[in-house]
Amino acid sequence: MKLKAVRGTKDIFGSDIFKFDKIINTAKKVFLNFGYENIITPIFEKTELFQRGIGEETDVVEKEMYTFEDKGGRSITLRPEGTASVVRSYLEHKIYGKENLTKYFYYGPMFRYERPQAGRYREFYQVGVETFGENDPALDAEIISMGYMFANKLGINDLEIQINSLGNSENRENYQKELKKYIELKYDGLCNDCKRRYLKNPLRVLDCKNEKCKNELKGAPLIIDFLDGESKKHYVALKMYLDELEIPYTENPRLVRGLDYYTDTVFEIVTKKLGSQGTVLAGGRYNKLLEEIGNESIPAIGFAAGVERLMLLLEEKEVEEKVEVFIAWLGNESKSFSLNISNQLRKNDINTIILFEEKSLRAQMKKASKLKAKYVIIIGEDEKKSGVLSFKDYDTGEQSKYSINEIIVKIKEEKK
Ligand code: HAM
Repeated sequence: MKLKAVRGTKDIFGSDIFKFDKIINTAKKVFLNFGYENIITPIFEKTELFQRGIGEETDVVEKEMYTFEDKGGRSITLRPEGTASVVRSYLEHKIYGKENLTKYFYYGPMFRYERPQAGRYREFYQVGVETFGENDPALDAEIISMGYMFANKLGINDLEIQINSLGNSENRENYQKELKKYIELKYDGLCNDCKRRYLKNPLRVLDCKNEKCKNELKGAPLIIDFLDGESKKHYVALKMYLDELEIPYTENPRLVRGLDYYTDTVFEIVTKKLGSQGTVLAGGRYNKLLEEIGNESIPAIGFAAGVERLMLLLEEKEVEEKVEVFIAWLGNESKSFSLNISNQLRKNDINTIILFEEKSLRAQMKKASKLKAKYVIIIGEDEKKSGVLSFKDYDTGEQSKYSINEIIVKIKEEKK
């Protein structure tokens, strides 16, 4: 067939959908556990929101947005990330007037016109959180620990938490001046991207993955040396709380992030297993963004994780949701009774498969083993008459006869 999915987009199905669901379900569970509430915002917003929110000079706004004019002549953009939309919603509904501390989580597709490769797509999913109304570094530590717990609950280890502080806007301006001076000295040796970035967004030069640039910038001044008293105190307290929570972290003084709204704490959770797309979760504080978008001075912090990147790290064997019961029925007269049995099992949250075409016992047992069913119930004419069913437990090898109620109790007991 000639028609294929658009470059940078993909279908998620088969064993991948188990991974996808596991990630979303685990995120929900962990975030609810920390007192977060779900929020759903539109997939598209006014372009201006992202221009003002993310920053005109970022790669995302400059080159990566899916922007179009709708039939009413409005400039619309498919959201490249979730933070700006959640902030817009929080301000629009004046939630700050009703609550002091607001904690939201979200998940859904985001769109960026990037060069596709493993772990980098044009449509990708994020799960994220945003917290409004609190500037305490204990919250920064709690959020980082929540991101780490989320990854751990997925069975993903071998991760490194990197932290840094970008200070306030004044600290950053002072720093940028010094950094620019340093970059000017090294200008000729830098890649074209860095040469372009240096003028508008010099911090991003520090983030360049090019080895030559990394070498040239080895001696560059570090933002941490430009923090004022407040920001320094915040950063020191963050580290103290992380230690208290027994969260391992590495300080990365070159961690700057690609979006413009960050102040003070920034962090990433990275893996070495995904090459240059190794950041699986990233975020930080953005205490000035609400002022920028809605003239409200409210501190905020959040993060987002890339679902596809997490999927690449999940082990296949861990996620397959097992078929619990396979019902094999013999003879057309037991078919509708077997259907009724499958219904009783499913009502009790027991995953059950039954086929509708009449097949030999051998063929059905083969199918049960292909599906990796844990139990098989065999129903023939005798079973239908007596209500006593043949039950086989594949794990223990046990084969006996029970009523459906006894089977349900037994399976539930084992699941506990
Ligand atoms: P971000 O660093 O742009 O931050 O994206 C967060 C995560 O989304 C990345 O670490 C990565 O795992 C995933 N990601 C980003 N772009 C792609 C892509 N093209 N393909 C696949 N995965 C991708 C944000 O979006 C901020 N809104 C995070 C935040 C929330 N900061 C504060 N609150």
